Amino acid sequence: MEKIQVLKPRYRVDECLSEIKECLEIGWTGMGFKTVELEKKWKAYTGLNHAHFLNSATSGLHLAVNILKEKNGWDENSEIITSPMTFVSTNHAIMYENLKPVFADIDNSLNLNPQSVLEKINSNTKAIIFIGIGGNTTNMIEIIKIAREHNISIILDAAHMAGSYHNGKHVGFDVDVAVFSFQAVKNMPTADSGMICFKNENDDKRCRELSWLGINKDTFARSNEGSYKWDYNVNDAGFKYHGNSVMAALGLVGLKYLDADNAYRRQIAYWYEQNLQEKVDIIHHESAETSRHLFQVVVENREKVIDYLTQNNIFPGVHYRQNTEYKPYKIEYNCENSNYFSERVLTLPIHTFLTKNDIDKISKTLLEAIEYAKK
Ligand SMILES: Cc1ncc(COP(=O)(O)O)c(C=O)c1O
Repeated sequence: MEKIQVLKPRYRVDECLSEIKECLEIGWTGMGFKTVELEKKWKAYTGLNHAHFLNSATSGLHLAVNILKEKNGWDENSEIITSPMTFVSTNHAIMYENLKPVFADIDNSLNLNPQSVLEKINSNTKAIIFIGIGGNTTNMIEIIKIAREHNISIILDAAHMAGSYHNGKHVGFDVDVAVFSFQAVKNMPTADSGMICFKNENDDKRCRELSWLGINKDTFARSNEGSYKWDYNVNDAGFKYHGNSVMAALGLVGLKYLDADNAYRRQIAYWYEQNLQEKVDIIHHESAETSRHLFQVVVENREKVIDYLTQNNIFPGVHYRQNTEYKPYKIEYNCENSNYFSERVLTLPIHTFLTKNDIDKISKTLLEAIEYAKK
């Protein structure tokens, strides 16, 4: 029987190859050309004012913290409130800049709990990073409001949120910076890349320079100049974080299908909910327009449940183990809900190759697995 994986990207192969072919034919695979086109189209799609294409969301989160730190003069005592229940990239970004991650608790949406965030705010707090787990916008608006009321920065880790809307608006609005991931298994997969969307124009400019080693002119812009095309200045020891045209080519095709693919993901979530409601604890999404990157449930004896599922060729995922279980984040803290969910969350397969029959089969096998795990 075929293995059912938790996440599986769908590439429209012929269209992707034709976009990539253009890059190869004109001999431009680097930054510029398709990256510029994708940035334009992403801005048009999301309604956000700025977008810069990068090699990953991890790079984007680092740049977000780096640029806000420099602009606002944060020192080594500065704290950023974040969630322990996220992919480590979120919190590594804080560590890269020698700032202090302060963990607030989550609620049963797996997103940060506004009350817990409020309790962590003190005079050293400079920013909050909100992560929309699985594309979920629950608590997002409330936490943006808290940041504004306390005059602190708000960063949106939107790695799972390509195609997530709140009241008809694509996420990324009203935050200082939003970072999207187009990594291999995300909703708009490219292999590896991401998009950083600053609210402020100067931050966007600074980001373009820092993502290209601190060089003040990109090669594509210089290729269109006259006799001074070789000339540039280096203002800082920046990073090599920019995206390239081959990844952007895949993104341009993916973007055309993003809304339709996400609608299918929501259909899958609906089928799961119909099969599992009142039998299994389900993580619900607030918005009817969620990207539905993940469909998560809460189970006891997770290892045994996973064993049973994998014996039946169903390969679920875990998003996430709380980061405080890893060496860089082993600190004194007490986040009751995070402790609870970290041991119990399970991501069921969700991707566009799955049929209603698959979802019925996975649901039935999950119910058997839960019974098996009780023994
Ligand atoms: C919540 C979260 N933040 C950040 C990232 C980093 O994304 P990337 O792989 O594009 O660096 C991921 C990727 O899996 C993620 O899940």
